[in-house]
Amino acid sequence: MKTDRELKELWFKFFTKHGFKRIPGYSIIPENDPTVLFTTAGMHPLVPYLLGEPHPYGDKIFDVQRCIRTNDIDEVGDASHLTLFEMLGNWTLGQCNKREMIKLSYEFLTSPEYLNIPKERLAVTVFEGNETAPRDEEAFNAWKECGIERVFYLPKENNWWALGGGVGPCGPDTEMFYDTGKEKCCEQCNPSCDCGKYLEIWNDVFMQYLVKEAGSKAEKLSRPNIDTGMGLERTVAVLNGAESVYDSGCLKKVIDFIGSKAEKKYKENNQTMRSYRIITDHLRSSVFILGDERGVVPSNVGQGYILRRFIRRAINCARNIGLDCKYFTEISDIFVDEYGKDYSDIAEHRDFIKQELEKEVEKFSKAIEEGYKEFEKVIKGIEKHKEFAAKTGEVVENKISGKSAFRLYDTFGFPFELTKELAQEKGYTVDKEEFDEKFREHQEKSRVASVGTFKGGLADTSKQSARLHTATHLLLAGLQKMFGKQVVQKGSNITPERLRFDFNLDHKMTNEELDEVEKFVNDAITRKIPVKCEIMSLDEARAQGAHGTFSDKYGQEVKVYTIGDVSKEICGGPHAENTEELHHFKIIKEESSSSGIRRIKAILD
Ligand code: ALA
Repeated sequence: MKTDRELKELWFKFFTKHGFKRIPGYSIIPENDPTVLFTTAGMHPLVPYLLGEPHPYGDKIFDVQRCIRTNDIDEVGDASHLTLFEMLGNWTLGQCNKREMIKLSYEFLTSPEYLNIPKERLAVTVFEGNETAPRDEEAFNAWKECGIERVFYLPKENNWWALGGGVGPCGPDTEMFYDTGKEKCCEQCNPSCDCGKYLEIWNDVFMQYLVKEAGSKAEKLSRPNIDTGMGLERTVAVLNGAESVYDSGCLKKVIDFIGSKAEKKYKENNQTMRSYRIITDHLRSSVFILGDERGVVPSNVGQGYILRRFIRRAINCARNIGLDCKYFTEISDIFVDEYGKDYSDIAEHRDFIKQELEKEVEKFSKAIEEGYKEFEKVIKGIEKHKEFAAKTGEVVENKISGKSAFRLYDTFGFPFELTKELAQEKGYTVDKEEFDEKFREHQEKSRVASVGTFKGGLADTSKQSARLHTATHLLLAGLQKMFGKQVVQKGSNITPERLRFDFNLDHKMTNEELDEVEKFVNDAITRKIPVKCEIMSLDEARAQGAHGTFSDKYGQEVKVYTIGDVSKEICGGPHAENTEELHHFKIIKEESSSSGIRRIKAILD
């Protein structure tokens, strides 16, 4: 039996042996990236380095990164999909030697000292070529040299990797699959089928291109990179010969715990199995979000809304299997025991996680029974309508109106997706367009920020964004001067047009306070202070009083940006070179972000 920890250790040992340096993982809530709500891949926080910024650890690095992807949320419950996973990643910056990386991948996968997977169980895919990039014969030949028989050429949909939205560094990739031993689904069966024969475990991306903005053509990167990511849970499942990712390690522990408390059995039928797995997956993701140093709580916007969806969906699934939601906190303890060892912020937030879970369960449990009744009423109404319509020949669709779905959301707290899921179980659809319309009307009325606020360009290294980034450091320094050092950054989001900065404060800032902070920043701009960047050990940075939170205890070398006597922060950059480049700082809004958290929006003009 291989554990998550053993696999991580093998990864560390292997890449250290090959001259790579371990870097700390990052928060699960991305910083300065308006394009996504969560860190979706290990490369995500490394974009500036993939675009040429030097990394303090050099150009061969590796890590383990907690990631959340919600695009596969409907798949959760099958054998391999999870909303949260740990990604084992490694990078070669500024060089793209495909053959060398493929040889390393092959060695790690098959060597008896490492994963010891028989090479006959492996199949790989490579890029078949298009107008942007040629057929990847180099990768194909490298796999053949290793003795892999099944190498498939596949098109862009399968073997081109880019960040969601398609903007940023990107390129052809080669994907590694484990053959589960199932029969071929058809003569053409290949790793792009979703028949379950092939399970993807690792992906080497050859980042040779860059898409600068949405819709523009991919250009060749002058300094290409290699970016690889292995799914930890899937690989552990493969190594243990487990039937699914839920049947080994910590996830299994939770499934077993649920089994000891629920009325229905795990594998009683397909629905109970899915419910057990969704509860396990969604509560694990909730623990990681609530436990993150950036402190997100359930809400109706952004990350808070996804968190709310996770918890409420878990509550619905608990109902399906007869599990009392009071056990959610015990489940969170199992996760904190396991993951707190590697992520100190999760360990530190054990009680906070439990309190927030309890609060959300309490809030939703009150409304849920009424909501189910309302849902049944809606269905009955449609059935009645159908009966009448049958007499007149009118055709009535099995479709819940957006208005009803919005009422379920607004009055009973049913996330749209939950209504959709309940509807699907009854063979119904939901009018999403009308729901969105009602939602917008409601927003306009209540001026609540929308779930869709997180749009815009990629976390870029443009001059404008770098200037705003420097302004963010000055802003934090100003806030700390006024309110004390306990004020810390709780989130930051920069587009080329504006900065948005969240911090903890127990009151709405007065106009005088806002003027004073604005003046503090503008004074620093007028003083034309150079922005200095140094690389030092984390201990040294701390000793120098550098501000910054690191959730991962493995950080050794960090970058510290110093702005004269005004600010000193641990930060990845990039920044302006001198504060004079900022011209003039102006706060355009101060508002509440969530309980105890304020948000400032500001521009440079
Ligand atoms: N960035 C690549 C992935 O997420 C490695 O699969």
